[in-house]
Amino acid sequence: MRETLEKIKAEALEALSAPDANIEELRIKYLGKKGELTAVLRGMGKLSAEERPVIGQLANEVRAEIEAKIEAFQSAAKERELDAKLAAEKLDVTIPGEKIRAGHFHPLSLVQRQLEDIFLGMGYSIVEGPEVELDYYNFQALNIPKDHPARDTQDTFYITENILLRSQTSPVQARVMEKTQPPIKIISPGRVYRSDAVDATHSPLFHQLEGLVIDKNITMGDLKGTLEMFAKRMFGEQTEIRFRPHHFPFTEPSAEVDVSCFVCGGKGCRLCKGEGWIEVLGAGMVHPNVLRNCGINPEVYSGFAFGLGIERIAMLKYHIDDMRLLYENDVRFLGQF
Ligand code: DAH
Repeated sequence: MRETLEKIKAEALEALSAPDANIEELRIKYLGKKGELTAVLRGMGKLSAEERPVIGQLANEVRAEIEAKIEAFQSAAKERELDAKLAAEKLDVTIPGEKIRAGHFHPLSLVQRQLEDIFLGMGYSIVEGPEVELDYYNFQALNIPKDHPARDTQDTFYITENILLRSQTSPVQARVMEKTQPPIKIISPGRVYRSDAVDATHSPLFHQLEGLVIDKNITMGDLKGTLEMFAKRMFGEQTEIRFRPHHFPFTEPSAEVDVSCFVCGGKGCRLCKGEGWIEVLGAGMVHPNVLRNCGINPEVYSGFAFGLGIERIAMLKYHIDDMRLLYENDVRFLGQF
């Protein structure tokens, strides 16, 4: 029996030394319930009383040795596996990272945000209004009755006779005044629509920013100061403004407002077409009819309003000579801002 045990041990240890040994198979072969070592132990009953403990101890030793060998094999295998994994997953933290290409704001959004910043800085709130608007707010409340000739310049897309795509942001004025008693100090940026053919300076969809201030004792001086501040912030400290008389149905008096050319400083150049001045917006003192239409007493309150085209400001500021560039989503163009 001793020889059998020695033989099992020698065989087992040899088999377990092969680097490609099938461990599970060998474990069953030597240590399993029907394994060789178990078979030997089963035969122990036939041994004499003196031999039994000696052989028993030897058998245990052999078992322990085989088990130890199996364990050693398994931990070596695990280590090899881990090494391989570590090698495969090696991470060099010193390699420079890949730059993520971040997008940025569209030039119209940049200008809108800058406009908003300027007016927020002067204490204005931002209010939005619907793009699908009632004829009443877009025209009638603003002192433009049905059949008024001023409608010709603002022809838009009608959904029904009384519902249209707003042709200006001015209807937000009426909506705000109707709901709020003065003091009112708001701007309202947004999309507007007109049935204009597309060309270098026209688009059926464009953006405006409306401003409205209503309180006691608001004068044309306040309007001028406000717009001068705006012009300097937007186009540079040296910028001056000029009011030219004009007519808007919702303001009286009304003006078109020019800024001194920020390219040539007023001497005359290509941008200002030799004029030295560039028209940027319309403005005026809110017409008493408009105040009355919106439930504000013109005997107590007065105010000013202004409206500008965001595309126009963006085109001036960035020297863009064709409005279509703003809508074509060409990254060669957009990437420049
Ligand atoms: N809504 C006018 C337009 O689209 C712009 C405008 C002019 C707005 C004068 C005003 C204003 O609030 O007072 O041409």
